[in-house]
Amino acid sequence: MTEKYDVIIVGAGAAGMMSAIEAGKRGRKVLLVDHAKKIGEKIRISGGGRCNFTNIHTHPDKFISKNPNFIISALKQYTQNDFIRLIKKHNIKFHEKKLGQLFCDESAQQVIEMLLLECKEANVILKKDMKIKDIDKKDDKYFITVDSDKYLSESLIIATGGLSIPKIGATQFGYDVAKKFNLKVVETLPALVPLTFNEKILSICKKLTGLSIETVVSFKKVFFEEGMLFTHRGLSGPSILQISSYWKLGENIRINLSPKLDVAKFINDKKNINPKQDINIIISELLPKRLAHIICNENNVSGNICEISNKILDRLSDSINTWEIKPTGSEGYRTAEVTLGGIDTNEISSKTMMSKKHPGLFFVGEVVDVTGHLGGYNFQWAWSSGYVAGQHA
Ligand code: FDA
Repeated sequence: MTEKYDVIIVGAGAAGMMSAIEAGKRGRKVLLVDHAKKIGEKIRISGGGRCNFTNIHTHPDKFISKNPNFIISALKQYTQNDFIRLIKKHNIKFHEKKLGQLFCDESAQQVIEMLLLECKEANVILKKDMKIKDIDKKDDKYFITVDSDKYLSESLIIATGGLSIPKIGATQFGYDVAKKFNLKVVETLPALVPLTFNEKILSICKKLTGLSIETVVSFKKVFFEEGMLFTHRGLSGPSILQISSYWKLGENIRINLSPKLDVAKFINDKKNINPKQDINIIISELLPKRLAHIICNENNVSGNICEISNKILDRLSDSINTWEIKPTGSEGYRTAEVTLGGIDTNEISSKTMMSKKHPGLFFVGEVVDVTGHLGGYNFQWAWSSGYVAGQHA
């Protein structure tokens, strides 16, 4: 049996559903297929179940790609305000949590239902639990094979996402399709992911598990001022997740544990004003007690401040304002929110998301070498790139 369509989309996640809606609205006969039994699982678990669906500060400089200019066109063609309008049209209540991040008031499920309803209204045919055996191109038509059935189309959109969270259905399918059609793929790596450390630092993290503090975390010239969380596996929290997208194996990151204060000056003032004060108490004014205690221990300082040399106090303040540590790795795709790298953007038109070598073949969403910062940017890329392909497929 062979079924004919104008557009076939593989992957019914954020980008795939958006492409399907837009192509369907143009009157194209659209088939949307997914190997999962349940649609939109990543949306469901996103933003702690409330889906941080976009960011009001969306701008190309919030994205990482080998070719940063590639991102501009799609973000202009479908902006954060366009998606906010769609959310409002469906009466989904939302709020800004911080830093322009928009979340549903109630549940991420509302976003999934909204997209499914839009697909239905655009006459998209959705098939779940479809295990694709093969994909091919013949006489300018694309074929997918599922069991013994063939599905044929003029346009094929690959929206199978990245490699993060294999437990809920991430596969390498998109990268394999690229290789099959001789398209370059930029090396993939887990990103927005907690970092891991050697035994010495890990033992500190374990003692502080659950503690969250405001930090500035930096790698070379890139820095993020957000919360950091100690866990029993290492360091996590927004600032660490953000820097993980930039950090390179074998290199150090820097953490400022007291970003609002010059600790050396603070300690020096204390020494002049009250030389008999205990150093542990002084540091506890800056940092949570547990952390202050560990830092004093690690630096072998205790007792009255007047009895501690300036050299040692300088070392102590450095370890607070510029704690320099070398991660041994990351928690990997098991917990990463996104995948860095993907289909090389030089292979794709930024205006249409279509392959330059293979007319009719499109790539959208996370499978492309475009990775957003934490904060709703990755979904906005899925909506924008999906929209663009939907206009041209
Ligand atoms: P997505 O992964 O959503 O969809 C891909 C689809 O393809 C899936 O339905 C999958 O089943 C299907 N598929 C894969 N292989 C297939 C195959 N071989 N055959 C058929 N189908 C196949 N971003 C953000 O902006 N705000 C947020 O709040 C969060 N929160 C968040 C939390 C967690 C825990 C994670 C893991 C990720 C986030 N993200 C996020 C990132 C965001 O979820 C992600 O960038 C987008 O879902 C990417 O959308 P795509 O449509 O490209 O892929």
